[in-house]
Formats: sequence, structure tokens, C-alpha cells
Amino acid sequence: MTPDFLNQVRAGGNIPKHVAVIMDGNGRWARSRGLPRHAGHREGMKAVREALEGCIQVGIEVLTLFAFSTENWNRPPREISALMGLLELYAKKEKADLVKQGVEVHVLGELDRLSGRTRRAVNGIKEATAGGEKLRLNLMISYSGRKELVEAVRRIAKDVAGGELSPENIDDETLQGALFTRGLPDPDLLVRTSGEFRISNFMLWQLAYTEIHITPVLWPDFTRQDLFAAVLDYQQRDRRFGRVTTP
Ligand code: FPP
Repeated sequence: MTPDFLNQVRAGGNIPKHVAVIMDGNGRWARSRGLPRHAGHREGMKAVREALEGCIQVGIEVLTLFAFSTENWNRPPREISALMGLLELYAKKEKADLVKQGVEVHVLGELDRLSGRTRRAVNGIKEATAGGEKLRLNLMISYSGRKELVEAVRRIAKDVAGGELSPENIDDETLQGALFTRGLPDPDLLVRTSGEFRISNFMLWQLAYTEIHITPVLWPDFTRQDLFAAVLDYQQRDRRFGRVTTP
């Protein structure tokens, strides 16, 4: 990859506003080195830094990372506690840098399932980074796209039952407004690492018209150059949103 990849991206002009990432391949990265799975997750933290700094360099406004899915609660307890420990470490170690970089962190998901310690750590990073204007970082933790939709429907049903909303007035905006990502633009680009062609219950509503870039790179090996390559790929796409480009 050439060093002027960043210049090519900048010259391409069409910068995605919102990039979402399914960070996959930590386990395979570790296994291929004879290491325990948590070593892959730990190495994955470096890639988080790379992706974030790459986004800032390019001028991406929102980065959403799938850090822990609802389904991940079914992993062995040791791996879960290693992942939670990493989140706590990330919140502690990166806080000051994130503030300096102008990153505002949001943590989205079923946060009541987190231990008090992890919740305190993620709330701490949220509070410390509030007001950051360069980049919004969404960490999706204990997140499931289907559960997010069920929760949104529940909220809307309550408004209907309370007489504040009539069913005829429910539209796309109503649903968007009931999601964790309310107020944010949908992702323009979804990057998935490790060569898997799946959405894995991630942002099911928001990804309706998102361009997808799959890379074989395992997440711990992901660098900002890989992010720039994804954006270059995105810049070649013809986004039609179901319409035609020629009359
Ligand atoms: C998927 O790889 C990755 C995860 C379940 C966790 C992602 C977490 C990190 C990158 C570390 C910390 C993140 C933050 C934001 C501080 P996998 O374990 O499913 O890999 P495999 O498919 O190769 O087994």
C-alpha cells in the first residue's frame, strides 16, 4: 500500500460521514500464533486506535465499532471477563488522548447487563469526552440489532398506548428516533474484517443502504491504510438508493 493512500482518499472528495465496523478475526489472529484468544482482543485495541486516527485524518464524522454483541455473552466466562477488562482498560488508558483528539464517545447497547465496574468505566469515558467535536465514536457493547428494534417498537407502542402517537403517524422517522443511534446519519460504509460475508445482527435498520467493504485482514492487523483502502473502494461505488442514475 502506498503512503499517498491518504492523499488519494482526500482527492477522491466523497468522504463517508459515518463508518461502521464489524471488528472480526481476533480469535483467529491469536490462534495462528499459538496465543490465547484474549491476546487477539488485546492486540485489537491497537487497531481501534488506528481506525479512529485514520477517521480523524480523513474527516469522517462518526465511527461506530461493534465491540461486544449480545450473543458474545455466550462465550466462555474467561473470555467475557477479558473483553470487559479490555473495555475498562481502554476507558482508563485512552480517555485523556480521546479528549485531546476531540473524540466524543457514546456507548450504545444493553448496558444494564454490564457489571457495575464496567458500567462506571464506560460512563467515565462518556462524561470525560462529552463535547468532543472532531469525531463521534459509538462503542456498541452488549448490542444486538434485533433487540434494538424490539426495544424501539416497545417505546413506540407505549406512546401509542398512552395516546401520544397514532399508528397512522408511525413512519421511518419515528422508528429512527427510537433507536440507540437516533439523530445520527445511517452508516455510509460498513467495513467487516476477516473475510466473513455476514451482518451478524448489526445495525439492521441503519444498514439498509450502506455500502459494504469486506477485507480479509484480521482485525488486530487492521491499520489506517486498510481504512483508507475501504474509503477508496467506497468512493468508486455508485449509490442509487433504489433509484436510477440516468433518466
Ligand atoms: C471478534 O473477533 C471481536 C470481538 C468479539 C471483540 C472486539 C473487541 C476488541 C477489538 C477489543 C477492544 C475493543 C475496544 C473498543 C476497546 P472474534 O473473537 O470473533 O474472532 P474469531 O472470529 O477469529 O474467533
